[in-house]
Amino acid sequence: MKISLTVNGELKTVDIADENTPLLWVVRDTLDLKGTKFGCGKAACGACTLHVDGEAVRSCSYPVKFAEGKEVTTIEGLGDRENPHPVQQAWIEEIVPQCGYCQPGFMMATAALLNKVPKPTDEDIDKNIINVCRCGTYYRMRKAIHKAANLQFEKENKESKEL
Ligand code: FES
Ligand code: FES
Repeated sequence: MKISLTVNGELKTVDIADENTPLLWVVRDTLDLKGTKFGCGKAACGACTLHVDGEAVRSCSYPVKFAEGKEVTTIEGLGDRENPHPVQQAWIEEIVPQCGYCQPGFMMATAALLNKVPKPTDEDIDKNIINVCRCGTYYRMRKAIHKAANLQFEKENKESKEL
């Protein structure tokens, strides 16, 4: 069956045998976007987090049929080298990653959180960013989340002054 969805701003139509295929495999294998990772496969670790209509979703456990007609954003669409998202910029500045495997999921979860809670407290972070990092980068991550919130605030402030 054919399913149409927008991925990182581009309309895509994929032909898949089973509409219950996890979105993760469509993104990685059909669309060749390898930034979204597989970890546990049971919605527990968050390595596969991406956005569907702005919400953080664990794509290993999200049937692609639910993404029909929706906007999907992966880490590749969050920002790029020339124009990193505030979360990516903060991650670079705080040198967060160790092995790096879990990091795209954490950044996507953080970007979604900042859209809802622009200045998260430590408690907000503990409650919402519940991904797993086997390298234990949690301390640097927390610093980076606060920094990302500040960078995003500055960016939005600058953009509103330019209007
Ligand atoms: S791979 Fe999806 S939550 Fe672990
Ligand atoms: S940086 Fe290695 S698992 Fe998180």
